[in-house]
This record gives sequence, structure tokens and C-alpha cells, in this order.
Amino acid sequence: MKEKGAHTDPHADIIQDDILTIANALYEEAGALEGSSVLITGGAGFLGSYMVATLLHLNTTRLRRPCTVTVVDNFITGSKKNVITDVDKKQFRFVEHDIRKPLPKDITADYIIHAAGLASPFYYRKYPLETIEVAVQGTKHCLELARENKVKGLLYFSSSEIYGDPHPDFIPTPEEYWGNVSPIGPRACYDESKRLGETLCMTYFQLYDLAVKIVRPFNVYGPGMKTNDYRVVPTFMTKALKGEALPVHDTGMQTRTFCYITDAVTGFLKVLIAGSRGGVYNVGTCDEEISMTDLARLIARISPASVPVECIAYPESYPAGEPRRRCPDISKICRELTYRPRVDLETGMKRTLAWFQGILEEEARETRTR
Ligand SMILES: NC(=O)c1ccc[n+]([C@@H]2O[C@H](COP(=O)([O-])OP(=O)(O)OC[C@H]3O[C@@H](n4cnc5c(N)ncnc54)[C@H](O)[C@@H]3O)[C@@H](O)[C@H]2O)c1
Repeated sequence: MKEKGAHTDPHADIIQDDILTIANALYEEAGALEGSSVLITGGAGFLGSYMVATLLHLNTTRLRRPCTVTVVDNFITGSKKNVITDVDKKQFRFVEHDIRKPLPKDITADYIIHAAGLASPFYYRKYPLETIEVAVQGTKHCLELARENKVKGLLYFSSSEIYGDPHPDFIPTPEEYWGNVSPIGPRACYDESKRLGETLCMTYFQLYDLAVKIVRPFNVYGPGMKTNDYRVVPTFMTKALKGEALPVHDTGMQTRTFCYITDAVTGFLKVLIAGSRGGVYNVGTCDEEISMTDLARLIARISPASVPVECIAYPESYPAGEPRRRCPDISKICRELTYRPRVDLETGMKRTLAWFQGILEEEARETRTR
């Protein structure tokens, strides 16, 4: 893989700076990774590629005995641009593989991070069976490998979506909330399969005392998302940078809290290394819950061009039934793992916008030279 930040990205320094921030935040915990092998599924995606870059960075700055990183991805939504190539082959291996099938026999691991999944509503509407299977069969294959290898930790990427549309009494939403989810609704392929993935993890923990840890991320954003990801932040930002109106679904009153990538990855890796066995952790920020209309206004305000915000009906490509509010209770991870999100919304959005601006300029240059 290319070192994230050391390739052709015009704003690679933003990502490189993010990786430094994460590595510094993990200085204490990182020692646990000395000389270990780490398997990351979905490592060519947004969150996965940040975690890969963080581990490879720790190899050069923190670990006396480097860890070896194996990435498995089938590129269903991941990007080949995220695959680093100029790194010591002893420290890094990329395997193009569909995790819905059993893992190749020669892969071993001390830690497993199962981040493969269809995270964007646009893509899970397009690929509903793949979405279910990566969260169920994919998780089972990771758990089997974890059991054979007696891993020190398996981190399962669940989602805040497992809470569905929470009752107002459960906002901010704590880990104990059971959720309000339709098993047959337009989002069920994602929500229900993530829930079953959690059940599988807990079953392996109970049956085999496997060191599983579960994270439920709440709307992570940042540099490295694809321009055609179709989640709200990349959509608003690419539209704004092209001088187009920002399309807000429905009334625009639905709210979210947005967690900048450095805070999220710090939380994920803290859970992997130091989270309790069988522990479940919300990861996100509980500050600055914002409506989609206000988010669009914020992005319009920090954009170079003046762009309008307009409410539109849900497009056919987007699954209906989205939660009205989403805001985590993060007191568990803060208390147990000394976690504290540090990046405020406007700072994170400005960094992300600067990165997207660089990417769009690069894409325009590539088109002109073709
Ligand atoms: N980013 C968020 O805000 C968020 C929130 C909640 C949950 N999550 C979960 O975190 C994980 C990572 O999300 P992301 O934002 O990086 O998404 P992403 O789409 O950028 O990355 C997911 C990666 O998984 C790969 N993948 C999918 N199916 C696969 C399969 N069968 N075999 C191998 N690789 C496969 C994709 O090609 C992609 O590279 C996902 O499981 C997602 O559901 C993310």
C-alpha cells in the first residue's frame, strides 16, 4: 500500500497530520501491539484505511518490534487508491478477497478488525444481500479465525443503526438501549444484519471466552471518504464545491452528531486494545447534535462558492425510514478508556472540505489530461 498521505493526494498532508494525531493519542495503548499480527477486513475503505495507516505509522515511531498488517477487501465500495504499495512487505500484505467466503488458510492474526461492510445507505440499498452476508457470514469467518488463533482481540464494527429510531427517552442513546428497528423495513438489511453480527460475537464470547469487542460508530466523517460515497457529508461537500444546491432530504429536521475521523479511530483502537472482553461501546461525539438543514447551512457557509440549500423528497436510491434523531451516550468509553472527542464540528468540516477540494481539483486535472 502507499503510505496514506505520501501519494498523489493534493491534500495528503491533512491525512498525514490526522494519522499523527491518532498515533499520539494512542501512545499508551499502542505498546500492546508490539510484534503482533493484525488482520483488517475492509481495509481499503474509509475507516479501514485510516486504521491501516495508523498501525504502519506506529511501526515507524512507537513499536520496537513492528506489527504486521494484513488487509482483506473485495473493493465493492473500497478504493484501490487506498492500497499502499511502498511499504516493507514484511509489515504489510493485501489480499483481494470476499470475506463472505472463508479466509485463506495462510492468514493468521493476534488481532482482527472486522470493518468490511456496506456503510452507505445508497450502497446497502443497491447491494442488500451482500450487506447481510458481510455482516453475518463475514463475521462468522472472522470469529472462526479468531478462535483458531486464540486472538487477543476481535473488533466487530456494528453501527449506531442497530438502535433504529430511538424512543426520545433514550437520546442520548446508551449501550443498554435495545433499539427500535423494523425487521422488514427498507433499512433492515443493514440494521438487522449488524444486530445479528453482534449476536454472533456475543455467542462466541459466551461459548469460547473469545476476546470480542464491539463498537457502534455514530456518523464518522473526514478526509478519505469517496466523492461518490453518497453519505451526507461527502454529498454536501462535493455539491458545494461544484457550486450546486445542497439537497436536504425531506424536512431536514432529522438530527445527527458527527464524529471527526481522528476521534473515531482513536476510540476504535482503544476498544480493540483495552476494551473489556465482550464489551460494547458507542463511539462518536455527543456534542453539537445538528439538523441536516443546519449542517447544509454550515457547509454552505464555509464553502468557497455561495450555494443554496433545498429540501427534496427522498430519492428512489435512498432507503426511507431514517431515524429522526441520533446522538450517542459515550459515558462508557470515556469512563473506561479515557476517551474524549477533541475535534469540534466546524474544525472537522473545514478540514474535510479542504481535502475534498484537493481531490476534486485532482480529478479535474486527470480528466483534462486524458
Ligand atoms: N463510517 C461510519 O460513520 C460508520 C458508522 C457506523 C458503522 N460503520 C461500519 O464501519 C465499517 C467501515 O465503514 P466505512 O465508513 O469505512 O465504509 P467503507 O464503505 O468506506 O468501507 C467498507 C469496506 O469494506 C469492503 N467490503 C465490503 N464488503 C466486503 C466483503 N464482502 N469482503 C471484503 N471487503 C468488503 C469495501 O470494499 C470497503 O473497502 C462498516 O462495517 C460500516 O458498516 C461505519
